[in-house]
Amino acid sequence: MIGRFPSSVDRRPFVQPSHRAIPYPRIQGSWTVDGAYPFPTMSISVVGRQTELQGIGTFLESINGGPRALMLYGEAGIGKTTLWQEGTAEARRHGYAVLLCRPAQSEVQLSYSSIADLLADLDEAVLSRLPTPQREALEVVRLRSQKPHATVDRRLVATAFLAVLQRLCDRTPVLLAVDDFQWLDRTSAQAIEFAARRVTGKIGFMISFRTTARNLDEPAFRVASPDGIYRLDVGPLSLAAIHHVLRERFGRTYPHPILVRIHEASAGNPFLALELVRVHGSGIGLGPRRSSATNCRGDCSRFA
Ligand SMILES: Nc1ncnc2c1ncn2[C@@H]1O[C@H](COP(=O)(O)OP(=O)(O)OP(=O)(O)O)[C@@H](O)[C@H]1O
Ligand SMILES: [Mg+2]
Repeated sequence: MIGRFPSSVDRRPFVQPSHRAIPYPRIQGSWTVDGAYPFPTMSISVVGRQTELQGIGTFLESINGGPRALMLYGEAGIGKTTLWQEGTAEARRHGYAVLLCRPAQSEVQLSYSSIADLLADLDEAVLSRLPTPQREALEVVRLRSQKPHATVDRRLVATAFLAVLQRLCDRTPVLLAVDDFQWLDRTSAQAIEFAARRVTGKIGFMISFRTTARNLDEPAFRVASPDGIYRLDVGPLSLAAIHHVLRERFGRTYPHPILVRIHEASAGNPFLALELVRVHGSGIGLGPRRSSATNCRGDCSRFA
């Protein structure tokens, strides 16, 4: 249940307002070897992220005093989507209206594709109460009109999208969740940012953003509450957590020295650890010792 955290853990909020230069706590011994997962309602398939999940729970709860935004930052494969999915599932379990989109790099040129995804399950009654120009603009964006996209005024779409969000969150808490914000098409990003800066009420934005050596700048995302933006830096998994991820995925355990090498080579990145074992199979640990995680990353085309 949101807000009901295990009594044995530190109750201080994990997520911090993004403008404060406070280092984020890393996983601290929260993972248990028998796989018991102390967070009461979230999935047990998420390993070693108790503190992060608590932070997400706190964020979801804070939406009731909204608007709020939670930015999940992290390198490729570190586990952003895994946490993001848990957050959306938790919001649903608590009756929030959840609007979500997961843009892909290949769709970055497709105008309004993410707005269409976000509004895919929209209650038509909400749409029908919009002023006619706004309703028609969203019908074009949702490909329910014969008018071409090019004829739609961007400000009209953004205003209509804002009106939809406002109507939804006047009825029930809303979570708008974007996974891989860096791949939003420009028109959708503009509409989301426009609406986020203006919408008031019980609404939260949960946004994951892949960081690379080249894009260390945060997206300029704002909400109407000046202190409403939080960030969560998704960091490496512990050795014990990597062990557990591998055991769950491959149904076997590895000797401690091999686990140490996998953990070292992957720098605690679960995707890299899984790829290492998938590629090297039982031969893992027999080859020449890798000196750093950078070497490992060079092997994985996903990280090119
Ligand atoms: N805490 C975790 N417990 C179990 N498995 C995990 C965990 N975190 C990540 N994984 C696994 O590691 C892989 C990569 O995770 P995920 O897709 O969440 O990373 P990501 O940061 O979203 O990557 P990308 O930037 O490529 O989108 C997936 O197979 C996922 O199931
Ligand atoms: Mg992802």
